[in-house]
Amino acid sequence: MSTWTLPTASGSYVVGLAPGDQGLVLHHWGGPVQAEPPAPSLPRRAASFVRDLDLLPMEATALGTRDVHAAEIVARRADGVRGLRLSLAGEIEHGVEDDGGTRLVCPLADPVAQIEVDLHLRSHPSHDVITKWATIRNRSPHAVELLRGWGGAFEAPTGAGAEIEVRTGAWSRETTPSLVDLTAGTLSVGSRQGITSHTAAPAVTARPRGVPDGDAWSVALAWSGSWRLAVDVVPFVGSVRIAGGPDDESGILTLAPGTSLTTPVLAGLWAHGDGDAVANAWHTYQRTLARSSGPEHRPVVYNSWYATTFDVTLEHQRELAEVAAGLGVEVFVVDDGWFRGRTSDRSGLGDWEPDPAKLPEGLAPLAGAVAERGMRFGLWVEPEAVNPDSDLYREHPDWVHHVDGRPLRTLRHQYVLDLGRPDVEAWVIGMLCRVLGSADITYLKWDMNRAIADGGQTEPGGDDWAWRHTHAYYRVMEMLRAEFPQVTVEACAGGGGRIDLAVLERSDVVWPSDETGPRDRLAIQHGFLGIYPAWTMSSWVTDEPDILDGEPASLDFRFVVAAAGVLGIGSDLLAWDERTRACAADHVARYRRIRDVVHGGRLRRHGSPDGAAYALQYALGERVVVLAWRRSGGALAVPVAGADPAGRYRVLWGSGEVEERTGDELLAGLPVPWSWDDCDIAELVRL
Ligand code: GLA
Repeated sequence: MSTWTLPTASGSYVVGLAPGDQGLVLHHWGGPVQAEPPAPSLPRRAASFVRDLDLLPMEATALGTRDVHAAEIVARRADGVRGLRLSLAGEIEHGVEDDGGTRLVCPLADPVAQIEVDLHLRSHPSHDVITKWATIRNRSPHAVELLRGWGGAFEAPTGAGAEIEVRTGAWSRETTPSLVDLTAGTLSVGSRQGITSHTAAPAVTARPRGVPDGDAWSVALAWSGSWRLAVDVVPFVGSVRIAGGPDDESGILTLAPGTSLTTPVLAGLWAHGDGDAVANAWHTYQRTLARSSGPEHRPVVYNSWYATTFDVTLEHQRELAEVAAGLGVEVFVVDDGWFRGRTSDRSGLGDWEPDPAKLPEGLAPLAGAVAERGMRFGLWVEPEAVNPDSDLYREHPDWVHHVDGRPLRTLRHQYVLDLGRPDVEAWVIGMLCRVLGSADITYLKWDMNRAIADGGQTEPGGDDWAWRHTHAYYRVMEMLRAEFPQVTVEACAGGGGRIDLAVLERSDVVWPSDETGPRDRLAIQHGFLGIYPAWTMSSWVTDEPDILDGEPASLDFRFVVAAAGVLGIGSDLLAWDERTRACAADHVARYRRIRDVVHGGRLRRHGSPDGAAYALQYALGERVVVLAWRRSGGALAVPVAGADPAGRYRVLWGSGEVEERTGDELLAGLPVPWSWDDCDIAELVRL
């Protein structure tokens, strides 16, 4: 029996043909294989209730091909008939791509329904991720509805049941990890908000129950509209099936005759080790998605939102810029409030011209003042949103997501533009080009501040509004990359409402949460770093209090928290005295010295942010950076993972104190002296 192998950096993925050539089945997903792995075995069963295909780890299948267990494609023909009977419809393509990666394409078809499904798999020797997607083509003369249009599934051989790690949350509580002991049934996480949502991150990790540091299989979805990931325990087979794609409860995709669609990519990762092994393996993959991970698109930001909110004036912004420049800030970003009629969150969204009352000569004088102080200039926009109180809405009330005859509802006093309409997409592109062309702007914070709860279009096939909106969002982001490569794009959605692999591919940094209280933030960042990398994690020092964890935190503490990712400052700098500014300048200088290690290094998380002490370690070549925090009185000796026992290291602490340590000592635990109130930074270099 023939099998096809997709080698990855440290393992392999092997598939073979299903009985009757009805698709592909998984033979092996894990470490490297020497000999050809055997076909999956089946449990003893009564064959009149399930077929082989219902139990085998199919790579992707349709309802109608398997009938009992989960299927990723659920199609309904115009005559109401549901399901597809798929089988091999040509040669399987298996080959090496120019970039050294392996490609497999399996053509399947249902000749009666006249539907074709090409299943694509891809691997690369630089990481341990298999990507999977499907192209579904309607060759019939009638429209076909996809009640579920997912690109495939990953079957993780966890044994009976699995421990599933998910990251759920809410606004200001994003990426909170939870473990679910799943012994039967289905675990489903997702979003019906038209965006990825704060509610759940589209990534789950499965492990054998009770084995927290052995094999792990993690699956993430590259999709930024409504979505769902489902983890099914396949009874008595010894695996869990993880599948996902656009949400199948709030949307249907319609394929007109002769058309095709390509599903979002589902990415499956195998790693061996604890949560940090999984985190680093994802980060390695994400490095291949990013256009770069260097400092050019990860500048130290000053953002004036918390200092001014909607009260933007040229003079005030200039004064802030003056202080920011002295701190070592690299880009000065004017947040919300700069455009026409934006006196509060009740008005102005959609009217993207500088407010003549606030910036009478436009953005250029402010951009110029910022440039004179040696910084780049950046701007906040929310292109998908509109206030009812705006000229844009008064001119184009039909441009918002709506259902005819149903009263609209505002959230944060705004509606969402139906970006899936070609005229709206063209308008957004024109608006962005105009704004970016109006001054020397090289940083854009793209926000999106509400769920698309009024989604819906009344024309036939309009049930795919989230699909169309999301694709248009991608096209606009891609336009920014192509036309304005000098512009760094920070993706934000009221905090971390739209973060996923697809957004990471099209942006440079993301804003993980509106929560900037440092202890709460640390917890959110801990969860974030478990899947997404530090070089994408925008983090600001602000004056905001913690909501949940009220234990006091110093300015130093805030700086060390923000130094864990892409450091920014959002405080009211004019309220800072000289001493505070000097302390901030010191932190910024230190951060600029260590950021290549923070962004490029291998991550190790020690302890948990709600414990007595917590540390993050980043290791790059001969250098290691340790960031540490504690609760009053906590003690910590950080076992510096990866240190060479025979090596000698110089350790520079935040206080300026320098010591020498052997690798042996570092492995046993580097005691933290707490240079500042409850926090410290150690810069280690091998001698
Ligand atoms: C959202 C963002 C904030 C800020 C405000 C401005 O909440 O997440 O950072 O930009 O909008 O209105």
